[in-house]
Amino acid sequence: MGRVLWHVTMSLDGFIAGPGGDMSWLAGHGGPNPVVDEVLARIGAVLIGHRTFFGPHSPATAQGRLYGGAWTGPQLVHTRDIPDDPNPDFIFVDDLLEAVASAKAAAGDGYVVVLGAATARSCLDAGLLDEVLVHVVPTLLGDGTRLFERPGGDGTRLEQVSVTHTAHLTNIWLRVPH
Ligand SMILES: NC(=O)c1ccc[n+]([C@@H]2O[C@H](COP(=O)([O-])OP(=O)(O)OC[C@H]3O[C@@H](n4cnc5c(N)ncnc54)[C@H](OP(=O)(O)O)[C@@H]3O)[C@@H](O)[C@H]2O)c1
Repeated sequence: MGRVLWHVTMSLDGFIAGPGGDMSWLAGHGGPNPVVDEVLARIGAVLIGHRTFFGPHSPATAQGRLYGGAWTGPQLVHTRDIPDDPNPDFIFVDDLLEAVASAKAAAGDGYVVVLGAATARSCLDAGLLDEVLVHVVPTLLGDGTRLFERPGGDGTRLEQVSVTHTAHLTNIWLRVPH
């Protein structure tokens, strides 16, 4: 079975989206990145969170297409509000554990990539998250959606797999100890 990878780009001050879901801060931070190429070659399925899917940069829109259209494959959406007329390009699942199990089955030996911080946190809580890959962009957003939020604090320790740099950002690849 494949592993569950939270793949995310983060501002230096810890946000994955700006206020109102703004993602314009990512502009200019693309460019060649061997780590992204490696992930792209290994993704078997994606699991998309409710807010990510129904937000302004939805993967269902032309501008929000996953990996700019460089990857295609099974796309699952975790939502308790399955649309009456669901987009046939996506598989909607209302139970998170069932969504992860279905995504893993669809992914085969490939990664299940999780998109959405709250969804990734729920996977972590359920013991279902195996790895985290964060691209750290040297931008200060000051407000928005945090990478990780836990009122009262949290002491989750992750293990370093690799840290690499491109001209525009830093890749931090981590493992979740089980
Ligand atoms: N920088 C990046 O690489 C990157 C990657 C992906 C997404 N994003 C951005 O991250 C933001 C979304 O992330 P996120 O952490 O806020 O959320 P998410 O993981 O996409 O979605 C899960 C959240 O949706 C809520 N939710 C509300 N109604 C729901 C329903 N009917 N069914 C299931 N869940 C429901 C859940 O809250 P409850 O369970 O408490 O209801 C949960 O907090 C977007 O702005 C997106 O563009 C950035």
